[in-house]
Amino acid sequence: MTQVIELEQQLIEFERTASKSLADANAHAQIEAIRQEFLGQKGALTGILRALSQIEKEDRPRIGQLANKVKENLEALYLERKTFLDQQELERKLQTEKIDVTLPGRAKKLGHIHPLTQTLNEIEQIFLSMGFTPMLGPEVETEYYNFDALNFPPDHPSRDEQDTFYTNIDRAGPAVVLRCHTSSVQVRTMETCAPPIRAIFPGRVYRNEEINARKFPMFHQVEGLLVDRDVTFGQLKGTLNHFIRLYFGKPLKTRFRPDFFPFTEPSAELDSECPFCNGSGCRTCGNKGWLELLGCGTVDPNVLKGLNIDPEIWNGFAFGMGVERLAMLKYGVTDIRHFYNNDVRFLEQF
Ligand code: DAH
Repeated sequence: MTQVIELEQQLIEFERTASKSLADANAHAQIEAIRQEFLGQKGALTGILRALSQIEKEDRPRIGQLANKVKENLEALYLERKTFLDQQELERKLQTEKIDVTLPGRAKKLGHIHPLTQTLNEIEQIFLSMGFTPMLGPEVETEYYNFDALNFPPDHPSRDEQDTFYTNIDRAGPAVVLRCHTSSVQVRTMETCAPPIRAIFPGRVYRNEEINARKFPMFHQVEGLLVDRDVTFGQLKGTLNHFIRLYFGKPLKTRFRPDFFPFTEPSAELDSECPFCNGSGCRTCGNKGWLELLGCGTVDPNVLKGLNIDPEIWNGFAFGMGVERLAMLKYGVTDIRHFYNNDVRFLEQF
C-alpha cells in the first residue's frame, strides 16, 4: 500500500516539477528538451512507471490512469507553451522585418520587340497570309549558293571583294562567303523541294559597304519565290501590290521599272507612290514622289534548269526587299545606324 501512495506522490511531484520547467522555458529548444527529459521514451515518466510492476495488480489501473492524466496534462501544457513561443517569435519577426508598404514601388522596365524584328514579323505575316512559307538558310555560304546557282557569270562585279565578304576558309571547291542576299536560300529550297513552291526567305545578309546614313555592312532581307505552272508577271504584280497595300496600310500607286538581275528575266524594280506626300514630293522621297522599294522578276529558266526543274513545265517569280529600308520608309527613320546603336530613346518610340 505504501508503495502505491509513494508512487502517487511521485507522479504528482513529477507533474509539478515538469509544469514549472515548461512554464519557465523561454525558447523552443528548451521546451523540446523538457519534453524529452520528462515524457520521452527514456524520460522520467517511463522511469516512474517501471515501478508499476512492483505494486498490487488491483492498484495498477488507478496508478496507470493517473500517469496517463499527468502525461496528458503535461502534453497540453507543452502545446500551450509552444503556441505561446510561436506567437512571440512571430511578433518579433513582424517587428524586425517590418516594411513600409506606403513607399512607392520601383517599376520594372519592360523591354519590347526591336523595330526591325517588328518590321520583319509584319512582312512575314503578310506573306504568310498569302500562303508563303518562311525558309531559313546559313549566313555563311559557298559561292555556289550565293552566286553560281543564281546564274551570276564568273566575272560578275558583285562577286568582287569590294562587295562581298570572303572568309579565309580554305577548302576545295567554291569559296566560302558571307551571303550577300538570301537568294541563296531560294537555291537551297529549289534543290530540296519539288515544285510547286511558295516560300519567303527572311534573314541577315552582309555586304562590304562603308557605313553611312543609308548603308550598313549587315542588314536584313526578305526574299520570296513562287514556282508553279503558268505563273504570270501579272501574278507577281498582284502579289506585290497586295503586300504594299497591307504594309503601308493604304492603297498606293506602284510602277515596275525594268532592271537587271542575273537570276530573273525579265527583272524589275518596284516603286511605290510615297505614302508621306501621296506622290507630291517630300523629304522622305527626295521630292520624287516615288520610293524604290524592292527588286523582282520572273525566275530565269537557267536557274531552274541548273536545279533540275524543267523550265518547259515550271516557271515562277521572285522578289527581294531590304527590311531596314522598308522600316525606314514606314517610320520616317533617316539614318540606318539608329537600328544598331541601341539608344533606348530611339528604340522606345516603337
Ligand atoms: N537579290 C537582290 C538583292 O539583294 C534582290 C532581289 C531582286 C531578289 C530580284 C530577287 C529578285 O529574288 O527576283 O538586291
